[in-house]
Amino acid sequence: MKVINVVGARPNFMKMAPIIEAMDARPDHFRHVLVHTGQHYDERMSRAFFDDLGMPKPDIDLEIGSGSHAEQTGKIMIEFERVCKQEAPDLVVVVGDVNSTLACTVTAKKLGIRVAHVEAGLRSRDMSMPEEINRLCTDVLCDYLFTTDTLASENLRNEGIAEDRIHFVGNVMIDTLVKHRALAARRELLSRWGLRPGEYATLTLHRPSNVDDPEIFRGILEALAEVARDLPIVFPIHPRTRKMAQEFGFAGYFSEGTPVRNIWLTEPLGYLDFLHLNMHARMVLTDSGGLQEETTVLGVPCITLRRNTERPITCIQGTNLLVGDQPLAILNAVKRLLNEARKVRGIPEKWDGQAAERIVGILAAGT
Ligand code: UD1
Repeated sequence: MKVINVVGARPNFMKMAPIIEAMDARPDHFRHVLVHTGQHYDERMSRAFFDDLGMPKPDIDLEIGSGSHAEQTGKIMIEFERVCKQEAPDLVVVVGDVNSTLACTVTAKKLGIRVAHVEAGLRSRDMSMPEEINRLCTDVLCDYLFTTDTLASENLRNEGIAEDRIHFVGNVMIDTLVKHRALAARRELLSRWGLRPGEYATLTLHRPSNVDDPEIFRGILEALAEVARDLPIVFPIHPRTRKMAQEFGFAGYFSEGTPVRNIWLTEPLGYLDFLHLNMHARMVLTDSGGLQEETTVLGVPCITLRRNTERPITCIQGTNLLVGDQPLAILNAVKRLLNEARKVRGIPEKWDGQAAERIVGILAAGT
């Protein structure tokens, strides 16, 4: 079977790495080509992950870059159509919910190529999120829908998707975490920065709903600046967030250089350093999707600065608290966590490091 594996943006890399590895282990079944759309292109948003995860260099880089949603999606479709015609794959594999995921799915399906979606069925039911639109459109088109949990499979069934397309396989991002956990633990980031385990929080923030509206963004920063008086906050800042913070004149909330009791900015970190930082954090504050899952497996409390989540399993079984974007709610949640002993929570079914193996087994059986 000839396969094109697609990656585009930062959260795709750790999902695709174990799939490539599992395909490599079955050379009798798979020949594969890795296409990077170039949605993310900064060294720290892209190349650093290939290095950390030991991923092969992309065979084809579409170098699309940034743009409006329509521009970015459209450019990827035009370039990816050319690649599909040239490579004539039997199957395209897409992961996650970014614009590259949707663009490559639509393109391949219109060329009559089968498509597999890894991380299917997640739903926030919030149509103001570009990712929710990407998820819905991708899932309706794909031939193989690989889900991370039973709630996601149930969402697909409720949308009328035939049972034989739905495969509950577990979480490939957790495959990557399980594989790299010991290596990440040995990094020396904390000692280099003079931080001690359990005595700081990490923060990520990049969703348009949080950083594009100056009042919401300011409210979150006000709350976090107060938290940071007692608990330093390390904030590896996403390029779009840095751009918005500059535009709104929010530099006063941050410090750079050495960690102090403040919201402390660093450039985005590579996979291993970021995992090291999170596994030792007192808590993680985030609007990311993947971090809600990673903290659940690490057993680190997570405060999600969003009004909804497409990953409710992390609240039901894991360490995730969904608190929204209002300053008082954020402060109350942090205070509650600081005064509580850390609870031992469960890990969702099949988040065991074997998800890619299951996916590749199902694909191989379908040839
Ligand atoms: C994208 C995904 C989002 C995911 C996030 C992880 C979509 C719709 N969104 O959001 O689901 O959680 O990636 O990071 O696909 N930029 C750079 N350098 C880069 C990449 C981006 O400077 O390498 C800046 C540019 O100003 C760009 C902006 O970030 O316009 C947004 O990038 P884009 O890829 O459109 O979306 P993200 O916000 O990164």
